[in-house]
Amino acid sequence: MRYTVMIPAAGSGTRMGAGKNKLFLKIGEHPILYHTVSIFQQDPQCEEIILAVKTEEQATIQEILKEHSNITFVEGGGERQDSVAACIAAYKGEGIVLVHDAARPFLNSLVIEALVRKANDTGAAIAAVRVKDTIKFAENGTVQQTVDREKLWMVQTPQAFRYELLKKASDQAIQDDFLGTDESMLVERLGYDVSIVESSYDNVKMTTQEDLAIGEILLARRK
Ligand code: CTP
Ligand code: MG
Repeated sequence: MRYTVMIPAAGSGTRMGAGKNKLFLKIGEHPILYHTVSIFQQDPQCEEIILAVKTEEQATIQEILKEHSNITFVEGGGERQDSVAACIAAYKGEGIVLVHDAARPFLNSLVIEALVRKANDTGAAIAAVRVKDTIKFAENGTVQQTVDREKLWMVQTPQAFRYELLKKASDQAIQDDFLGTDESMLVERLGYDVSIVESSYDNVKMTTQEDLAIGEILLARRK
């Protein structure tokens, strides 16, 4: 089933502390951004890639990606949500769209396919994995409650939507000046159901230095 992917790549990578956009850091032979975009370039079901970048980084990114004829570049914004909004504004179709962080280079195609199908059926579907640790709710350093782990999920991207639903949710967030941490939140607050698709623990976000070491191991294991 065909889909379009929107990839926000206009961050600064502050927590990585590399002094530059973390997406330029290499895992194995290639930069993180190259790995992530390649997943979609190799997927025959992916119709279009809309990539939000900082204007001053676009030329470098085109060089990194080598092949970029199937990519629509848009200018990212100050917050991740603004970068995704720029992607949404550039989309011309009316099908299923995925939003995927450029910083998650180990996504597998089974998860993509499951998300696209589920979003087509229900309107919205997000990748997530079960929480492994026991989670406590605490206030002022004192445990108030142990949360039922069976009901807890760690949420990732991709998040998949029927385009009209994502557009509606994004427009409403802009109007309300609401800033969410993922697209699902924007849809949830309008009262729509969001389905969970069980993903893989490999689909980690490269956020801090430790994640790069994990990334090297994941890459080596794939070879
Ligand atoms: N992103 C974006 N535009 C922004 C901020 C983030 O497109 N204004 C992108 C990042 O490039 C990344 C994804 O959103 O691919 C997830 O964000 P995150 O992991 O937080 O990356 P950064 O914001 O770059 O890192 P940090 O928060 O540590 O600065
Ligand atoms: Mg960030």
